[in-house]
Amino acid sequence: MSAFPDIETLTDAQSLLHYGRDWTRFWTPAPERVVFPRSTDDVVALVRWAGSSDRRLVPSGGRTGLSGGAVAPGGEVVVSLEKMRRQIELDAVEPSLTVEAGMPVGEVQRTAREAGLFYPVDWAAAGSSQVGGSIATNAGGIRVLRYGMTRQWVRGLVVVDGRGQVLRLNRGLVKNNSGPDLGQLMIGSEGVLGIITEATLALTRPPPTQSVLLLAFADLAALMPALAALQKALSLSAFEFFDRRSVARVEAHTGSSFPLAERADFHAVVEFDDPDGACTDAALQAFEALVEAGHVTDGILSQSEAQAAELWRWREAITESIAPATPYKNDLSVRVSRVPGFLGALEALIARHYPEFEVVWFGHIGDGNLHMNILCPEAMDVADFRAACDGLSPRVFALVREYQGSISAEHGVGLLKRDYLHYSRDAAEIDALRGLKALFDPEGLLNPGKLLA
Ligand code: MLT
Ligand code: ZN
Repeated sequence: MSAFPDIETLTDAQSLLHYGRDWTRFWTPAPERVVFPRSTDDVVALVRWAGSSDRRLVPSGGRTGLSGGAVAPGGEVVVSLEKMRRQIELDAVEPSLTVEAGMPVGEVQRTAREAGLFYPVDWAAAGSSQVGGSIATNAGGIRVLRYGMTRQWVRGLVVVDGRGQVLRLNRGLVKNNSGPDLGQLMIGSEGVLGIITEATLALTRPPPTQSVLLLAFADLAALMPALAALQKALSLSAFEFFDRRSVARVEAHTGSSFPLAERADFHAVVEFDDPDGACTDAALQAFEALVEAGHVTDGILSQSEAQAAELWRWREAITESIAPATPYKNDLSVRVSRVPGFLGALEALIARHYPEFEVVWFGHIGDGNLHMNILCPEAMDVADFRAACDGLSPRVFALVREYQGSISAEHGVGLLKRDYLHYSRDAAEIDALRGLKALFDPEGLLNPGKLLA
């Protein structure tokens, strides 16, 4: 057994609770200790120590995850990357930014902006999430429609695998066809193959000024024709939908009043490029055509950046507004055109089997990604609620399989969805994933129990 390396450590109860969990509330955190490496060498020393002293490591970023991927419920050692947050290189020519994994994603966005550039992957928790975690979970967010997921923006990684080997992957290259890209394997691997310590992220030019439409739809079937028409008329960067219950929850949480006179079952926030108001007429024409076709019943077009930000709040504030009701989150995806049929079938399923549940729907409908949040009834104990949701999950995921979708579009599998992985990945794929785990982490030191049972 090797001696514990000289690395800052906390063991007090409050720190164990704070660093031992993410945003999920279904598991009781119980790590042995929390450690704060300051370099890739420190992470190597921790992995070697864990191997020689029968410890398991849980990599930890901003812990904003929603699937229990950063929870340490069984005496693990939490490896917080938060002291590794240095900027290593800003290359304005490529352009790219190389940073340590603990830098908050919000700081990446700010650094890019200050250099006249743009890091486009964005979601409500981006400010407190960290680069390493966002890569390990392949974070998506609100502008995937235009910019894709985190995966598309990673040019290089430094990873310490479960053998204590340092893998320097792709080294920031734009082109590199020298065999399979191991970095892509690490993206979305949820910390079970390696601990990311550095990343090179591609940047781009900032978009022009943008405007926002807030729309009320006549019914579910109207969503796809509206998306298609708006995509044809405008250059969209987001098409985010939410239901009537989302609006009620945000109103109750924020105290704001919804700005549309018409309260519909489904709404969307639509963001589009509008340099100097050049696309305002096209937006209004598209809106009027949708009203005439009977798809849209009401809407507002932002008149300023401040108003655009206010309209966005109706979508962005949903997660925080429903958090007190301990939502059981489902993060599902199907092919974009199949969303309305899938959503309708899910609603019917829940109404038939669990009519007592309040379900809040929102998500990135332009990406085929639906967030189905089941809220815990006030009078119900959280453990009983979790058990009831676990009873519902096989039915929901059977429907996902029928629609050839995914049980996790962007939140990851973690602990929450691990036992359902076979609903959207077949046995041969899961077998290959196990082979990768055995290759990169033969002793099973990294993030035990996550992703794979
Ligand atoms: C979102 O789309 O707002 C995020 O995925 C968070 C959530 O689903 O609650
Ligand atoms: Zn989302």
